[in-house]
Amino acid sequence: MATVVVALGGSLLRPEVEGRHNWLMEMVRVIGARVESGAKLALVVGGGAPAREGIELARQLIGDVSHLDRIGIAATRLNATIVREALSDGGVNVSEKIPESIEGAVLELVGSDVVVMGGTVPGQTTDAVAIRLAIQSGAEKCVIATNVSKVYSEDPRENPEAEAFDELTLDELQQIVGPPGHVEAGTSQVVDPVGVGDALEHGLHLDVLDGRDTRVIKRSLEGEEFEGTMVRG
Ligand code: UTP
Repeated sequence: MATVVVALGGSLLRPEVEGRHNWLMEMVRVIGARVESGAKLALVVGGGAPAREGIELARQLIGDVSHLDRIGIAATRLNATIVREALSDGGVNVSEKIPESIEGAVLELVGSDVVVMGGTVPGQTTDAVAIRLAIQSGAEKCVIATNVSKVYSEDPRENPEAEAFDELTLDELQQIVGPPGHVEAGTSQVVDPVGVGDALEHGLHLDVLDGRDTRVIKRSLEGEEFEGTMVRG
């Protein structure tokens, strides 16, 4: 069974979300069950609230975007550690280390069923890390678990008339998120355009879904129909 990579948006661990302890517990169950049936998984966790807080605090003092990005990366690794420890305590064979590079993660996957990591280098978000890891580990797809139900033609908070898509091609997704490029530390698109560019180049399948509901993640991991947007080459 091929590896599946999951980008877990940091907002899924947000303090303001009620029941987030249950969410983490459910995630441990979903991951544990997939591993039991022979799957290998890589989880790439976003920075969420600590990234936003840290970047906001430092933004007045630090002009160099890549230095702010490093604060974001530290936050992603904090969140990755929380998820790793929860999985380990839940009895899942998860790698000891939080890899700091794609190459490191590919190596860790050899000996473990699950690897958990955060960001790697400035200039991107964890979506791009997950997509690159999926490409380099020969994964069958990359799941982008975020906090919106589908990819929309425009930001639905700004335009309530925006169209939601069940299916898209990678080309169409690139048109929606824009050309590869990192605008500003801490800002985000539904999927990082840097990652979409890589996925397009390698024909990597993406499942974009609302990760707040762990049942949706489970269905995507099992290769079943799920509520969200299937992005294919
Ligand atoms: P996230 O991956 O959480 O980005 O990384 P995001 O899209 O802003 O937030 P989510 O998806 O809603 O959680 C947080 C920040 O950390 C830096 C960037 O500044 C990013 O905005 N980062 C992260 C990097 O510079 N490189 C990485 O590989 C990962």
